[in-house]
Amino acid sequence: MEKTTSKHLWWQEGIIYQVYPRSFQDSDGDGIGDLRGITSRLDYLKWLGIKGIWVSPIFPSPMADFGYDISDYCTIHPLFGAMQDFDALLHEVHARDMKLILDLVPNHTSDEHPWFQESRSSRDNPKRNWYLWHDAKPDGSPPNNWLSVFGGSAWEWDEPTQQYYYHAFHTKQPDLNWRNPEVQHAMLNVMRFWLDKGVDGFRVDVMWHMIKDEQLRDNPANPNYNPLELPYRQLLPTYSTDQPEVHDIVKMMRQVTDSYHERMMIGEIYLPVSKLVAYYGADNKGAHLPFNFLLLALPWDAQQLASAISEYEGALPPGGWPNWVLSNHDKPRITSRVGKSQANVAAMLLLTLRGTPTFYYGDELGMRDVPIPPEEVQDPQGLNIPDKYLSRDPARTPMQWDDSDHAGFTVAKPWLRLPENFRKVNVKTQQDDPYSMLSFYRKLIRLRQEEPALRIGDYAPVYTDSQAIAYTREAGEKRFLIVLNLTHRPCYFNPEHEAFSGTIAISTYLEREGTPISGTISLSGDEGIVVRLAS
Ligand code: GLC
Ligand code: MG
Repeated sequence: MEKTTSKHLWWQEGIIYQVYPRSFQDSDGDGIGDLRGITSRLDYLKWLGIKGIWVSPIFPSPMADFGYDISDYCTIHPLFGAMQDFDALLHEVHARDMKLILDLVPNHTSDEHPWFQESRSSRDNPKRNWYLWHDAKPDGSPPNNWLSVFGGSAWEWDEPTQQYYYHAFHTKQPDLNWRNPEVQHAMLNVMRFWLDKGVDGFRVDVMWHMIKDEQLRDNPANPNYNPLELPYRQLLPTYSTDQPEVHDIVKMMRQVTDSYHERMMIGEIYLPVSKLVAYYGADNKGAHLPFNFLLLALPWDAQQLASAISEYEGALPPGGWPNWVLSNHDKPRITSRVGKSQANVAAMLLLTLRGTPTFYYGDELGMRDVPIPPEEVQDPQGLNIPDKYLSRDPARTPMQWDDSDHAGFTVAKPWLRLPENFRKVNVKTQQDDPYSMLSFYRKLIRLRQEEPALRIGDYAPVYTDSQAIAYTREAGEKRFLIVLNLTHRPCYFNPEHEAFSGTIAISTYLEREGTPISGTISLSGDEGIVVRLAS
């Protein structure tokens, strides 16, 4: 276990905040967020107490997957601004002692990327082998049964060259062939380009997809398929993802990162804990933070969460630093998932567990998924699978800054609609309201910044029942008890092994703050408390 005496780095002690650039702040009146917009809102993020800002892709892209289909890795999409705007953003982030994390999408490019244009131009083009081209089976069908996450076969037939290419996502997102050293070299150079500019790290898109089975074996059926899910889940991605050789690639990327001072790499990885932790790499020379999505995947249930937390803590390799995520641009927002009262409890959990918290823009306001009428759906996952409601647009709506028209996000029509209640749920109205979710987040963040016990201290589970979770965080002489009621009904916590006594530092019920605690602890429905224990 990491000892509290050792030096901790910014990405261990600090909080990471995800900005979805289309939706954070528009500066030029086109209804789409941009880099100047982000720069203009940095003071807010600083005020909130954020350390690292992760910005989803800002590079040239035909926008088939809203920037995750990149046609040039080393410049800025004009929609978001110019390279000068990027340089200014980076400068202003650093001037505020914050860090900038870019999204790196190494698994696939856009089909409009010059690499793919060359690759598809003929079978003997030198870049043919940069992508995954294969012959049809004798009957003309695709090389195997692999499915695309966005629906249908993952193989697309290319008429001119009479072969299929593989795309794990959109047909406009062909997968690169990471077994090819030229591809490795090219993408590591992309990393160096941005690291040389001074960016502080990367969030690496779909890291577990990067290498696929060389023999292209068929994926097996998923016996637990739930028809409400993506059709992609009908098969288990046994041969198309999480191949042993992926760790060699991650290690190469890590070596590049490590050749610069205090940079870092987050891996986007949706895998069970036992497989996820392998991405820390042998001797921790893999991803610094393989994203831990347990909190956004599990049912909101005390026992299930507590056992998942223990499993995760127990599975971490020595020296592997934990991290926690509540929402992102691909999943429903936390407030929509668990409701407003429990979203406060979730914030307390996120900000008091051991490890780096990442939260998603607007979650600190209790922003909800916004219903998007079918004719306004833009997300390819929604459009390609129209018979199921799987669009990710609802979680990608504009940041709600104030109660003016378009919520202060833009002066024009925003690219996705705002919810009806934005005049009430926004930064401006919440900033000065001590009862708001924003004030609650800020208070938790402040306490975390002040107290090493909460930031980097040891974690110990104390108690779980069908309603509540309790654990302690400790560093040096200081110790905190956190008790979270994950239900709407009141509950009691009767510590058997140790009589805790102390004072409530933060409660989801403001009135309770400052109240002494000893013996049996009772909580209201939806209450979470952080207790400063008497030493
Ligand atoms: C990641 C991104 C998601 C994107 C996909 C394909 O999962 O988070 O938004 O659609 O990769 O790039
Ligand atoms: Mg704009």
